[in-house]
Amino acid sequence: MEDAEKHPLTPDFETWPLATMPNSARSECGVLLVEWSDGTVSRHHPFFLAENDPSPETLHPLSRETTLSPLDLPDGLEVQGAEIEPHGTVRVDWSHGRKSSRFHPGWLHGNAWFGKKPRLETAVLWTAAQQPEPPTFNGPQALQDPATFLAWLHALRDYGVARLEALPNQDGLLMQIVEQIGPVRESNFGRMYTLEIKDDPDSNAFTSDALMQHIDMPTRECPHGLQFLFCRDNSTSGGEGIYADAYRIAEDLRVEEPKHFAALCEINWTYNNRAKTTSYKASGPVIELDAQGTITGIRYNTWLRAPLIASLADQDRAYRSYRAFAARAQDPVYQMKFAYRPGDLVAFDNRRALHGRNGYDAAGGTRFIEGIYADRDDLYSAIRALERKLSKEDTP
Ligand SMILES: [Fe+2]
Repeated sequence: MEDAEKHPLTPDFETWPLATMPNSARSECGVLLVEWSDGTVSRHHPFFLAENDPSPETLHPLSRETTLSPLDLPDGLEVQGAEIEPHGTVRVDWSHGRKSSRFHPGWLHGNAWFGKKPRLETAVLWTAAQQPEPPTFNGPQALQDPATFLAWLHALRDYGVARLEALPNQDGLLMQIVEQIGPVRESNFGRMYTLEIKDDPDSNAFTSDALMQHIDMPTRECPHGLQFLFCRDNSTSGGEGIYADAYRIAEDLRVEEPKHFAALCEINWTYNNRAKTTSYKASGPVIELDAQGTITGIRYNTWLRAPLIASLADQDRAYRSYRAFAARAQDPVYQMKFAYRPGDLVAFDNRRALHGRNGYDAAGGTRFIEGIYADRDDLYSAIRALERKLSKEDTP
């Protein structure tokens, strides 16, 4: 029997595992208490349950979004009783004459509080010795086999950089692959750009010069989350890509140079682009933290920094800490270096993986690299949707 026939709907389209099942369910002081087969106990607030009730009165059966206003639920709503029904469905009986609700056991367990939030962070931090090359996957195979494509996306999420190799030199292929993940995020460089030498460059990227480690688009309120570089042709010498895990750099600074780490988290630098027809400007610290102190992003680009207007003392603190960060970014200990080979598609997290390149000799051959931006959310959504699809295919 299909899961959908055995269990109530869930307020989403996810697949909820049934590895841990409810042994018993009851009311405890008006809340739902569930004892699970692994010995754990969870408690569920009446409002949490009521607004996630999958019945058609409260959840739109097609959109799976609630139709309730918070004020539709009576003050003092209580769970009066609960039962385990066949296949582990949890039935909740209510006060105020409200109709009973039934919950999918996997959904209830997956959204329960067990003393701490489930660990979502999957980042694997690396130095050059630990990760001399990006995690690499066969391109044509990834395009044929969703499991290989998913493995590439997982590596991009976890390592911040991941490569497909041996792709054909084909017009439109980069766009097709990126759109398989999500929508392109355009920029002032267009929907797609080519890393070529321009007569009147609006970025150092459009020269054959070496590029220091940086992120792109620090000039935006939220810099683009992902970048994809597809090398379609390269017969020049030099021009190797140089990548560094800025999360590794930041975590090492946190431990080894805590004053600099604090300054890098606290002092806002402003970044502006230097183009004749656009004028983007945004500010932020080099190291962004969330409320728990977890690093969530990096804003580091030496040549796009605007003048720092601050007191001498603050300038001193800002420059010392920026130089401490730069010393690590330019240290080979942190630098993964590799040549762009024809057929390589290098994807990276633009707010985590610093990128740069050696200079190259443009007179000695041709070099044709296409680039596209997208955002992290698109990657995470694609991963969840593909995991869902593959897990359903695995279900007998
Ligand atoms: Fe760049």
